[in-house]
Amino acid sequence: MILEGKRLLITGVITKDSIAFHVAEQAQKEGATVLLTSFGRVKRMTERAAARLPEPVDVLELDVNRAEDLEALGATLGDRWGQVDGVLHAIAFAPQDALGGKFMSAPAESANAAFQTSAFSLKALAGALVELMPRGAGIVGLDFDATVAWPIYDWMGVAKAALESVSRYLARDLGPAGIRVNLVSAGPLGTVAAQGIPGFDQLAELWRRQAPLGWDTADPVPVAKAVCWLLSDYAQAISGEIVHVDGGFHAVGAPASV
Ligand SMILES: NC(=O)c1ccc[n+]([C@@H]2O[C@H](COP(=O)([O-])OP(=O)(O)OC[C@H]3O[C@@H](n4cnc5c(N)ncnc54)[C@H](O)[C@@H]3O)[C@@H](O)[C@H]2O)c1
Repeated sequence: MILEGKRLLITGVITKDSIAFHVAEQAQKEGATVLLTSFGRVKRMTERAAARLPEPVDVLELDVNRAEDLEALGATLGDRWGQVDGVLHAIAFAPQDALGGKFMSAPAESANAAFQTSAFSLKALAGALVELMPRGAGIVGLDFDATVAWPIYDWMGVAKAALESVSRYLARDLGPAGIRVNLVSAGPLGTVAAQGIPGFDQLAELWRRQAPLGWDTADPVPVAKAVCWLLSDYAQAISGEIVHVDGGFHAVGAPASV
């Protein structure tokens, strides 16, 4: 079991379809002890999803934009565990006027909101927990390939480009403490966040046509397994990396038969 004895904090579970739910499930199967986070009104949904995990888990309060929550999270984990071996950042949000073909009309506040919640938050979360993380610990975030512009993704795409950069700067600054920071760039998956993107099916259709290995938008397990691997000691010299778990889509410019 590659995560035997590891204590992992997993953000971003809202339903059993959440990518983070599958990470928690795989991590428990691989021997990890897990705590989840959620916030406000959706916490009850997270608790309902959490009840379906193989082992019971607690759900801690975290709105990643609230300094008080981040501080309390660090204190709680310090009391409970004393150290944190791995963290999954599975958090993204963009207001509706910043997505779905509204790139040119989106106001700055909406673009800023997407940036703060989806990219700056990786630094905020890492900063709150770094004192608890031993050498060899890992932080993993979830990315959607930001090297190109996509239909409909708009300011969320810009926020993902920022997330990619934030992860590299974190890898630079936390590396001397032995902490690794990596992203998994996932193909489209039918989660709550994805359904909130008008026209998400267009992206999913692209993957169905073009991914060399094929792609199942209803199966987050391959993404979850890659996250577990990056959190494990098998990835001990990997930092500042973006691992594509997308059926090979990123490597080809067009479907094999056009
Ligand atoms: N679904 C996809 O197609 C896909 C593809 C690539 C990457 N991703 C990324 O995966 C991650 C998880 O998304 P998902 O698709 O599992 O959807 P999801 O809706 O299940 O998860 C998104 C999570 O973000 C949390 N969140 C939003 N604002 C927050 C805040 N202020 N503080 C704390 N948590 C907050 C929500 O509560 C929710 O749990 C996101 O970063 C997303 O961009 C998703």
